[in-house]
Amino acid sequence: MRYREAGFDSMVNESSHLPRRVRRWSCAAFACAMVWCVPTAARAGQDGLVNPHEGSPAATRAGRALFATRCAECHGADAKGISGPDLTELWAVGSADQRTFQTIRAGISGSIMPSSAAPDDELWAIVTYLRSIGTASPVEFATGDADRGREIFQSNCARCHRVAGRGGRLGPELSRITVTRSRASLTQAIRDPGASMAVGYRTVTLVTRDGDEIRGVKKSADAFSVQVVDTDERLQGYLRADLRDVRDETSSLMPAFGVDRLSDGDLDDLLRFLASMREADAAP
Ligand code: HEC
Ligand code: HEC
Repeated sequence: MRYREAGFDSMVNESSHLPRRVRRWSCAAFACAMVWCVPTAARAGQDGLVNPHEGSPAATRAGRALFATRCAECHGADAKGISGPDLTELWAVGSADQRTFQTIRAGISGSIMPSSAAPDDELWAIVTYLRSIGTASPVEFATGDADRGREIFQSNCARCHRVAGRGGRLGPELSRITVTRSRASLTQAIRDPGASMAVGYRTVTLVTRDGDEIRGVKKSADAFSVQVVDTDERLQGYLRADLRDVRDETSSLMPAFGVDRLSDGDLDDLLRFLASMREADAAP
């Protein structure tokens, strides 16, 4: 069954066939953690700074309001720059959440760009907002046939990826991926997914005390618990005390699409289709 933010009740019911000793939380508090109110969720692990609100519509709204009061006087209401520079192109070459966060936190010495002592959550909200309005050069994706690309996407990718709110949830939502990633980095992500795994979608295998193995993508982890979306797309929380092992894997759950499965022409069509979706509403 598909995991949906609103569908936690049915998830609880469907989970009853699993061993009782594996305690799980599929509750509303968990939905909350995925959205806005538990900032520790995505900060766990060795990943260093990770935007805990990536893609969240609530954070985007909060960030827009914060930006208007704290940053617009120098960077412009549309972030296209006044006395401070244009901030809409920060993501044009790969992901820059972390760097942008640190710039806003520290300011830029020797310039009028101030440092900020605001709570992490507020700064991440601003980062989330800036990323949502970011632009990468559409010229990079101007070739190819979007209609063919849509068909290729439906048959090869939609079972794991959403576009415009539809599709699977094992992998990240892709509506705005051509805004924040260059053509070269997207080509690598599709041809060789193991080369660098998207933050929040790293592969993990959990081994229960009974020896059952659960594979999925790790959403968060702390000293006591691990939260994963398993390969059936169910968001599940496990207590470490109930697990024999938690193995972080180096291979992606996404299959590699080499030229044998996806020709260069197909890839061109696919990227053209994804670029055509950049104005789509990414909300679930
Ligand atoms: C008083 C004016 C001013 C305010 C207020 C201000 N900035 Fe800046 N900002 C600047 C200037 C000027 C620079 C360029 C500094 C330099 O590179 O010498 C800058 C640079 C930046 C950069 C780096 C841009 C790049 O190309 O790497 C980011 C990111 C940024 N500001 C974000 C923000 C955010 C977010 C806020 C609100 C929380 C904010 N700024 C508030 C003036 C300001
Ligand atoms: C079996 C599920 C599955 C299928 C099928 C699949 N993906 Fe993925 N994809 C994932 C997972 C999981 C990730 C996150 C881990 C990673 O980055 O490799 C991912 C990551 C990605 C990323 C990187 C996103 C980012 O933010 O870094 C892109 C781009 C992508 N997939 C595109 C595609 C395209 C295009 C197709 C179809 C040709 C496809 N995927 C098919 C599961 C899948």
